[in-house]
Amino acid sequence: MGQVDVIVLGAGAAGMFAAIEAGRRGRRVLVVDHAKAPGEKIRISGGGRCNFTNTGIAMERFLSRNQRFALSALRRYTAADFIARVDAAGIAWHEKTLGQLFCDGSATQIIAMLQRDMGQAGVELWLGTTLGEVRRAAGGFEVETSRGVVRAASVIVATGGKSIPKMGATGYGYKVAESFGIPVTETRPALVPLTFAEQELEWMRPLAGVSLAAGRVSRGKVGFDEAVLFTHRGLSGPAVLQISSYWREGEAITLDLVPGRDMAAFLAEEKRVAGRAALRTALAKVMPEKLARVVEAQAGAGGPLAEMGRAALEQVAARVRGWELRPVGSEGYRTAEVTLGGVDTDALDGRTMEAKGVPGLYFVGEVVDVTGWLGGYNFQWAWSSGWVAGQVA
Ligand code: FDA
Repeated sequence: MGQVDVIVLGAGAAGMFAAIEAGRRGRRVLVVDHAKAPGEKIRISGGGRCNFTNTGIAMERFLSRNQRFALSALRRYTAADFIARVDAAGIAWHEKTLGQLFCDGSATQIIAMLQRDMGQAGVELWLGTTLGEVRRAAGGFEVETSRGVVRAASVIVATGGKSIPKMGATGYGYKVAESFGIPVTETRPALVPLTFAEQELEWMRPLAGVSLAAGRVSRGKVGFDEAVLFTHRGLSGPAVLQISSYWREGEAITLDLVPGRDMAAFLAEEKRVAGRAALRTALAKVMPEKLARVVEAQAGAGGPLAEMGRAALEQVAARVRGWELRPVGSEGYRTAEVTLGGVDTDALDGRTMEAKGVPGLYFVGEVVDVTGWLGGYNFQWAWSSGWVAGQVA
């Protein structure tokens, strides 16, 4: 039977970060993962460049049943701390948009940095190793693995959520929590494209591939000004992925095709100066032409602008600024970037990520009911929560 001080379950962003910190404190650390390589999600993240943090970290940009929970860890290990680490490793980076920081080169640089740091901290890594039951034992825990049972004083569960099962996501961490009587909040796919019923898809499908560089998608008071993309199954693009974390079945979302523009005034002016033109010609000045045609068709307006009354034009303007659409679902965990919900934060100490009722058991990263916006927030949560656990485990 193996014996270590700390066993970390999962060699993703949060697990590797926790392991490095615990190892630096002189703890004997073992990281176990069933994947062939560590940090597979880091490798594919940010289109291969890893959007590793965001300069706009703020409480409102994280979803959790207990919104303040993440604050402590995020304050103790900040975006600036991680940037300093990336700088010290000589990894060049740039801000793309909205505070989102990406590697100039490749996401594999972040993985290489973490692997090097794990090596220097004396962390042992077992890949291709499956995990079984975690149970209490004298002086700590016993963890079943395909390489035998390992005893450890502390267990850090960092096995992530359910998103992208093809990449090894299993929901294993939730089962570990439940086996210790720790509640898990409802989980659902988030940061995921939304899908529509056949009725909508009839007009949406021909738009597949059309994008709005600056649209606005909202649900209630929450809205995101980012790109929107039409797909064969519905809507995607950053603004839609963002709103998917807030949307629930049965609800409508509102699509603004031209945020900030006074569309009624624009159409009235077009009618004045180019009354013989079709509605779609005017609309195509402010949106993709294919979309302009759909708006025109739905308004039932085939003739010249001059023949459209003020009320009709105002109706078109209102539709363009506030198009109510009712998704029927999402593409699910197959494509979701993250899992909403997870290990209930009420059961964890936000300063250390230790389970309140089970000393020595920690949960870090996506497995916890803390989900960030798109844009580097989820990796920052992985670094911060992993870091705080690594200080004490
Ligand atoms: P993570 O999922 O990374 O790691 C969990 C580890 O546990 C994996 O190595 C897995 O193999 C292992 N594991 C799971 N079950 C196991 C079991 N039963 N036995 C053994 N091992 C097991 N975020 C961001 O901030 N910026 C970005 O650019 C992106 N981009 C992005 C793109 C795509 C396509 C996806 C899917 C996701 C993103 N994300 C992102 C989200 C980000 O990847 C995610 O939030 C973090 O990887 C979570 O880190 P964790 O370490 O918690 O879990």
